[in-house]
Amino acid sequence: MRKGHHRTKRRDERRPAPREPRAAAATVTLPNRIRIPPVAKLAALPTVGKWLWTCRDGFEGQLYEELCWKKCGATLLGAGLVETEREPSSPPTFARMGFRVDALVKTPQQAAAALRHEPSRVQVWVPDTDAGNARAGECLAWQSTINALRENIKDPATPWAAFESGAWLGQVCLVAPHTAAVGSIGARVALSLAAGGRARMKRTADAPSRAAMKLDEALEWVGVSPGKGDLCVDLGSAPGGWTRRLLERGARVWSVDTGLLSPDLQKHARVKHFHQTAFAFTPEEPCDWLFCDMAWRPLEVAQLLAKWARNRWATQLVANIKLPMKDKLPMVVRVKATLEDGGWSDVRLRQLYHDRDEVTVCAVRKAG
Ligand SMILES: C[S@@+](CC[C@H](N)C(=O)[O-])C[C@H]1O[C@@H](n2cnc3c(N)ncnc32)[C@H](O)[C@@H]1O
Repeated sequence: MRKGHHRTKRRDERRPAPREPRAAAATVTLPNRIRIPPVAKLAALPTVGKWLWTCRDGFEGQLYEELCWKKCGATLLGAGLVETEREPSSPPTFARMGFRVDALVKTPQQAAAALRHEPSRVQVWVPDTDAGNARAGECLAWQSTINALRENIKDPATPWAAFESGAWLGQVCLVAPHTAAVGSIGARVALSLAAGGRARMKRTADAPSRAAMKLDEALEWVGVSPGKGDLCVDLGSAPGGWTRRLLERGARVWSVDTGLLSPDLQKHARVKHFHQTAFAFTPEEPCDWLFCDMAWRPLEVAQLLAKWARNRWATQLVANIKLPMKDKLPMVVRVKATLEDGGWSDVRLRQLYHDRDEVTVCAVRKAG
């Protein structure tokens, strides 16, 4: 290397290497990889009678491959949109929202007439892509016309009220200028209660980081949260957005990170900071919840989380897994298999709205 020329260290090199030898990841036989058609050349409209799925912009290839692997007759329509012949047997990780298309319409009047199932709320949305977002203004006009035309949704139920009563959510997705796919989905089976799956969480002054919003959204998705007195372990916790959110819920938090927590959290009576690598951390007693947002290689993190289930150190899991640049779907499958192998059950993975090159995973430890 030339004098005075310093190579910038890669992120991983700056951190202490994990000390403990780790268990092998689960062996998985993957389906054949699928060739992804060039998305830029595609702008197909959805088909009536098929299922329409939307995802984060740029992840349509992953969603398409995932739906092909689930054998439900997938077609890549264009940026942010995939359709399938059938509903898959389990919710796709890379989808934000999906519904069966009942009609393709040109006006909000036609959309209002095409809505079946008497929805208690209609969600009008655009795919979260450059082209889709440029048409976001159209949504408001469509929404108010539809609400005015449908007597039962003049005073729409909140998404949570719709969930609690088991009501239908009308779906109107503006897939192209003046063209919408219309359908309905039960609020209890919808991938998200937010329009188009864009569950925007509030950024608060005390937790300004994206990390805190990721946890808020994750807990909303999981449907249960830690309560007063619960013991939570937070792996990869610095500077403390997740720890803060858990404290707000009344939990005690063991925060594990090679980095530092923000000063107020270091002094907090219900926080204990373990300034060390999570790979060498052993809890003094089993905890109720294991949280993990470690910026580390996904399979090694999955193996670490599997160890927690194997040792019965935690009952519930919520983790954010960073995906590799390439082969994201095979990694998602491997992570799931590794967690199940370790003893986690009901393992669910989803790329939530606040997740970038990441997926959120939740699970409970197998009884017995
Ligand atoms: C995305 S940040 C976590 C943000 C945190 N959840 C929050 O809300 O503030 C990732 C963290 O993982 C930590 N990390 C990476 N490798 C680690 C390891 N082996 N052990 C413990 N922490 C680790 C980093 O130090 C970094 O603070």
